[in-house]
Amino acid sequence: MNIILLGPPGAGKGTQAKMLVDERQMVQLSTGDMLRAARTSGTELGKTVAGVMDRGELVTDEIVIGLIEEQLTTTNSAGGFIFDGFPRTLAQADALGALLDKVGQSLDCVVEMRVDDEILVKRIAGRFTCGGCGEGYHDEFKMPSDPAKCDNCGSSDFKRRPDDNEDSLKTRLMAYYKDTSPLIGYYYAKNQLKSIDGLGEIADVKARLAQALV
Ligand code: AP5
Repeated sequence: MNIILLGPPGAGKGTQAKMLVDERQMVQLSTGDMLRAARTSGTELGKTVAGVMDRGELVTDEIVIGLIEEQLTTTNSAGGFIFDGFPRTLAQADALGALLDKVGQSLDCVVEMRVDDEILVKRIAGRFTCGGCGEGYHDEFKMPSDPAKCDNCGSSDFKRRPDDNEDSLKTRLMAYYKDTSPLIGYYYAKNQLKSIDGLGEIADVKARLAQALV
């Protein structure tokens, strides 16, 4: 099953995608994670996109389509792909359709995760991740059982994203409403859209997502 998780920053796309990977052997393709990895490894691509990402703007369609093409043509996924944070523009959505055709695959479902803006700000402001294994946490909603150590790998190296600040978040939200939200109508017209309530406990959202994927 190949699916898109569609939603604004902080909707919980990454949180839910990681659980699907663990439980359904799906492969998560997060363009945000790919771009952050390029920055960490200091590649030319990483240097090109650093400022754009920190400001909360979208990087070019050409760059992210190239990243997805590389993954789709080199990765085997028996459980299917989860597209997380891609596509984000109509041009990216058209390109994804063409790429899936090219590799003999298709899109099964697009799940829109709906969350109020006020809650998004709260989620983003409290987010941090383990630098050792990438496990995601939140100051209020998901603290490690020992606040100084990751539950998953025991590392005490916690990180916060440079774009998780008030100014960048405003820009990211604006980019979502201006460039990405038209995809809701795009996939609705293709009869591929399902919408779920992304509010509430992580486990409750997980159950709604599972229902949408039946
Ligand atoms: P990207 O990394 O994709 O960021 P984003 O879309 O802004 O999404 P986030 O990762 O912020 O949110 P999420 O929905 O995954 O939420 P999460 O699960 O972490 O993109 C970053 C940048 O890269 C972009 O701004 C752009 O510059 C560039 N980029 C990437 N892709 C691009 C593309 N296709 N085109 C152009 N540019 C691109 O949850 C957030 C927090 O809330 C966590 O702490 C979590 O623990 C908590 N949480 C989650 N669910 C719940 C819940 N139900 N209740 C309480 N807390 C919860």
